[in-house]
Amino acid sequence: MTTSGSWPDQPDLRGWLALLAERGDLRRLPGPVSGDQEVAAVLASCDGASAVFFDDVEGAAFPLIGNTVALRHHFALALGCPDHDVVRRLGEAMATPAPLVEVPLRDAPVAAVEENGGDLLSDLPLPVQHEHDGGRYITSALVCARDPRTGLTNLSINRLQVSGPRELRALLLPGRLRQIFDAHEAQGEDLPVALVIGVDPILTLASQAPAEADSDDLGIASALHPRPLEVVRLPGHPTPVPARAELVLLGHLRAGRRAQEGPFGEYPRTYGPGGPAPVLELTRRFRRAQPIVQTILSGGREHFWVGGLPREARLMTALARAGVNAVGVRLTEAGSCRMHAVVSLRNAQPGVAFHAAMALFAALAPLKQVVLVDDDVDVFDDEQVGWAVATRFQADTDLLVVPRTRGGGLDPSAGPGGVTAKLAIDATVGAAARGEYAEMRSAVSDPQRLQSLLDQLVPALDA
Ligand SMILES: Cc1cc2nc3c(=O)[nH]c(=O)nc-3n(C[C@H](O)[C@H](O)[C@H](O)COP(=O)(O)O)c2cc1C
Repeated sequence: MTTSGSWPDQPDLRGWLALLAERGDLRRLPGPVSGDQEVAAVLASCDGASAVFFDDVEGAAFPLIGNTVALRHHFALALGCPDHDVVRRLGEAMATPAPLVEVPLRDAPVAAVEENGGDLLSDLPLPVQHEHDGGRYITSALVCARDPRTGLTNLSINRLQVSGPRELRALLLPGRLRQIFDAHEAQGEDLPVALVIGVDPILTLASQAPAEADSDDLGIASALHPRPLEVVRLPGHPTPVPARAELVLLGHLRAGRRAQEGPFGEYPRTYGPGGPAPVLELTRRFRRAQPIVQTILSGGREHFWVGGLPREARLMTALARAGVNAVGVRLTEAGSCRMHAVVSLRNAQPGVAFHAAMALFAALAPLKQVVLVDDDVDVFDDEQVGWAVATRFQADTDLLVVPRTRGGGLDPSAGPGGVTAKLAIDATVGAAARGEYAEMRSAVSDPQRLQSLLDQLVPALDA
């Protein structure tokens, strides 16, 4: 395994892996491993703990990396900011994308090798992730397409089922890629796409910018990177692509063609159904000499956070637009960073919590439960949030149920068309009443005095 360069000088997957290795957050499996669920089982066992580099996935010519972001803190590390600043940085970049730097083809690491036609998929480590999945999937590719309305580049991640040596089937849920594809198809035109595989976590995050942010997703990544993003124009594709990616597959989503895709284990950690899906035919492959292929474990924490953090940024923007003074927002891991949120409010006046909840529900369809707390409660501490609900909430007055609204589509408990009820729990009391509801404490005025007492503690057997 080579991990040349170091973050942030080389904002690419290899630089990122070098940084993870330095921190002890990257583990390596040298021995042979089957792509048929073994890779995914190892990734699931290391979920939330470390990235895993697989040297030898049976039948594959190249190595594989998974769990490239294994901790929420890794995003702060990638962005070079404190943990609490990640969502604000994302919101700023989504509002203000930065220019790109175009490098010539000969200087782009991703264009070291060009392969035309032939079998473009069989030598790649593309695992079967779950027991009842429809087959092998690409789960990390940034689908890069030109929006004809704006000329800007859209990035998205779409599950891509392998259905032949040059053929994939793509799940396109409602979003900008779907709109772009529909517009092409209405004209009887295929949509050219580039599948960009093996990138740093900032690029992956930028791919999750919400559809209404009508901006250049590569520009969002550029604004978040320590230096402007290097891109390259590959022959035969209309958008620039990240020059330091590991591998790019070029092809077309075919107009008027559908074929069976799925089922596939999805973010709620249940199976998403199969059905007819657009067909993607590949024509060319560009890659580094020894590319590191990337997989994202579907339903793992990387999947949760990569999709969840830009959505947290979207929720903060929605609250600001609704005139709500929110301090913290978290889409919880228990709710797959899509379905459950905790939001802390500063000095919430009567009615503000439910006002905030409605703004949140409208901003994010899959969101079905919001707990609103005061700003003395840490939204990242489940025990504190549970305490606030236990001591500041009454179900007859502080509960709001909104029936029959639009949900996320993959929630197995939702009705036909994803229609779902939404629940808001108002566990705020506002600053005026805080004294009455404050958490009791044992007051030791000098924290150093307490620390010196703690330092004197010894195991009882040695006392
Ligand atoms: C790991 C992962 C897998 C995803 N799979 C899909 C998918 O199969 N289909 C889909 O439409 N969206 C999927 N998404 C969500 C989209 O990538 C995301 O909503 C994106 O912002 C959509 O972009 P668009 O509105 O520009 O098309 C996935 C997200 C992640 C992080």
